[in-house]
Amino acid sequence: MKVLVTGGTGYIGSHTAVELLNQGHDVIIADNLSNSREEVIDAIIEITGKDLVFENIDLSDADMCEDFFERNSDIDAIIHFAAFKAVGESVEKPLAYYQNNIFSLINILQGMEKYNIRKFVFSSSCTVYGQPDHLPVDENAPIKKAESPYGNTKKIAEDIISDTCNASKLSAIALRYFNPIGSHDSALIGELPLGVPNNLVPFITQTAIGIRKELKVFGDDYNTPDGTAVRDYIHVVDLAQAHVVAVERLEKNPHDQMEIFNLGTGKGSSVLEVIHSFERVSGEKLNWTMAKRRAGDTEQVWADTRYANEELGWKSKRSLDDAMKSAWEWEKKFRANEANEK
Ligand code: UFG
Repeated sequence: MKVLVTGGTGYIGSHTAVELLNQGHDVIIADNLSNSREEVIDAIIEITGKDLVFENIDLSDADMCEDFFERNSDIDAIIHFAAFKAVGESVEKPLAYYQNNIFSLINILQGMEKYNIRKFVFSSSCTVYGQPDHLPVDENAPIKKAESPYGNTKKIAEDIISDTCNASKLSAIALRYFNPIGSHDSALIGELPLGVPNNLVPFITQTAIGIRKELKVFGDDYNTPDGTAVRDYIHVVDLAQAHVVAVERLEKNPHDQMEIFNLGTGKGSSVLEVIHSFERVSGEKLNWTMAKRRAGDTEQVWADTRYANEELGWKSKRSLDDAMKSAWEWEKKFRANEANEK
C-alpha cells in the first residue's frame, strides 16, 4: 500500500514509518515540523534502507491540504498522527488546539472523500477514559468528560470519524494509546520533546544525563501499592507495529463502523517502578524527590488488551526494562551527536 503518515517526523509517527517500510509499504510523510526535525527523515531512511517521500505542509490549512490531495490522489491509506499533544499547553491555548487538531482532521477526511481514499487509522488516547470506574479498562468503558482541551480534541475527533464512517464508505480504526515510551533499537529515532519535558520518561533520561537537576515524583499519596500513580507504559516499537496491523486489517476487511482498540501492555507500573527499571538497566542512580500531585493527573489506568490481542491479532512483546533501556540509549546517542555538532 501507499500510506500517508501525517506527523511522520514526530515520535510515534517516525517509528510507524519505519515499521511500514519494513513491511514493504510505500510511505509519504506530511509534517509541518512544528514539533519535530527534518533530520528524522534521514534517520528513517538509514534504519530501513528504503526511500520515502516527505512534504513539509500544514494540514490544518485547507488550501494546502487540498493541493496535497490533488497531487497525491493515489494514496491507499492514511495514518493520522499530526496533532498538538501537550496537555498543559492545551489548557492555556484551547483555540490553537481545536484549530490545529480538528481542522486538520476535517481537511483530511474531506480530501479522502473527494479522492475515494477509504482507509484511515487515527491516533487516539486512553485519556478519553479519564479515571475509569473499572480496571483494566476495556474499549466499552464510558467516555468521561475530557480533563483538557487536548483530551477533548481526541474525543471529538473519534466522534467526527465515527459519524463519517456511518455516512460514507470510509473504513476507520481509532487506536487508543496508553503511555508510549522508549525508542527504536538503532537509537536513531526517539522521543525529543521541545523544552522541559512534561512526560515521565524523557524527564528521567534528561535528568540522568545532567540536563535536569532532579525528577519530581508527582504524588506519593495515591491509593496504589507504593502510593505513586500507575500507568500502562508501552514500548513505542510495539505501538508502531500495531499501526501496520491496523492498516493491513482495513485492506483485508473494510467495514462500515469505526473500530476502536486499546494499545497497551495490560500491565500497570507505578512511577517508582519506572524509576527502578531505569536504574536497573542504565546502571545510573537517578536524582529524584517526592512532590505534590500534579493537577489533572489520574490515579491509575491500565489497558484491557484482550480485544486488541484477539480481534486485531496484535500483542505487545517488549518489557518495561526493554523500553527504558532503549530510551536511555537514545538519550545518550542524541546528546553525544549534539555535542559533536557544536
Ligand atoms: N510524572 C512525574 N514526574 C514528572 C512527569 C510525570 O511524577 O516529571 C508522573 C505523572 O504524574 C504520571 C506519570 O508520571 O503519574 C506519567 O506521566 P506522563 O506525563 O508521562 O503521562 P500521563 O499519563 O500524564 O500522560 C499521558 C499522555 C497524554 C495524555 C495523558 C492522559 O502523555 O498525552 O496520558 O491520559 F493526555
